[in-house]
Amino acid sequence: MPKVVVLPGDGIGPEVCASAVEVLQKVAPDVQLEYHLLGGGAYDQTGSPFPDATREAVLNCDAVLLGTVGGAQNSPWNSLPRPLRPESGLLQLRKALGVYANLRPVKVMPGLESLSPLREDLAKQVDVLIVRELLGGAYFDPRRAIEGDSAYNTIGYSKAEVDRVARVAFEAAKTRKGEVTSVDKANVLEVSELWRGVVQHLHDTEYPDIKLEHEYVDSVAMLLVKTPGRYDVIVTENLFGDILSDLAAVIPGSLGVMPSASLGDGPGLYEPIHGSAPDIAGKGIANPSGTILSVAMLLRHSLGRDAEAKRIEDAVQAALTEVRTPDLGGKGTTQELGAAVLAML
Ligand code: NAD
Ligand code: IPM
Ligand code: MN
Repeated sequence: MPKVVVLPGDGIGPEVCASAVEVLQKVAPDVQLEYHLLGGGAYDQTGSPFPDATREAVLNCDAVLLGTVGGAQNSPWNSLPRPLRPESGLLQLRKALGVYANLRPVKVMPGLESLSPLREDLAKQVDVLIVRELLGGAYFDPRRAIEGDSAYNTIGYSKAEVDRVARVAFEAAKTRKGEVTSVDKANVLEVSELWRGVVQHLHDTEYPDIKLEHEYVDSVAMLLVKTPGRYDVIVTENLFGDILSDLAAVIPGSLGVMPSASLGDGPGLYEPIHGSAPDIAGKGIANPSGTILSVAMLLRHSLGRDAEAKRIEDAVQAALTEVRTPDLGGKGTTQELGAAVLAML
């Protein structure tokens, strides 16, 4: 029996996870679930945002489903030493699982073009896969400090770290339109020069049939809004990928509909890309679509169940034509949208 560890986390995490778990149980009743702590709640209960019991469980399962972690701007969690904060728990989890490639698909679902702030003709064309490097760059580089009146972080990458994530992007492109855009800031940063060289070399030696472009991150931020249809697969470093994926999330209408899969050599990690949304937590109005679609990615990438994944994606698309949460301009609740998805399955 496949085992999935569920980490509901903080804020709206438990609300969106509850909906997503109902969907998982309906399409794959054989999957065994185990619940564990992560984030601020985990710190409050155990003194660690990534307790040992959680580490043990995630290293011994087939896949991990995560809600969200973190508190509001004024949360006491934000005054803890950095390694004890909720977000550190998430970073430690990603590191422990070795999930270096974060896939963030951005698609405007057919029939839901009106949810996009973009003109319908532009929205229709959007089908981008952002491949974000997840274990390197400023997030994990040990060269960081606050020293007196100054502070620094470092964006370091090795060739091997770039090669392994670029490979994921090229492989994904093979199953799509066959185009990769590598996003960097090579006009200013040495680390981008290395990044660009590694991606180009991998292309020339192993993926010559994929169309490869290199573009600067500032320009991509603009073009993702102006002409998003020009992109198929985007591959980029950790921080650029974090920012570009929230930007791209505007296109389908809300952060709340964006799923993700983080993959490495062990169990995969599946989570919506949004945060704990402290402004709406506890109100029962969070959009569970991103987490439900993350379950679809879990079934596809970790359990090899493509048909079930597709069923979920179709059900979410159909449900959103009938029920919309406030982030999409509707009056529906998390529970109502979740129930609509279940009904469509
Ligand atoms: P956020 O993504 O939590 O919220 C941004 C805005 O989007 C808010 O207005 C929120 O209400 C809305 N929103 C987000 N998800 C939604 C959903 N499913 N349905 C409806 N509306 C939704 O970003 P933030 O406010 O910058 O961060 C809040 C906390 O979450 C911080 O502590 C941050 O560190 C954390 N965070 C965690 C993750 C994660 O767990 N992966 C990701 C991003 C931010
Ligand atoms: C995300 C989040 C995280 C990140 C934070 C909460 C550590 O913004 O998953 O996009 O920056 O990776
Ligand atoms: Mn983010």
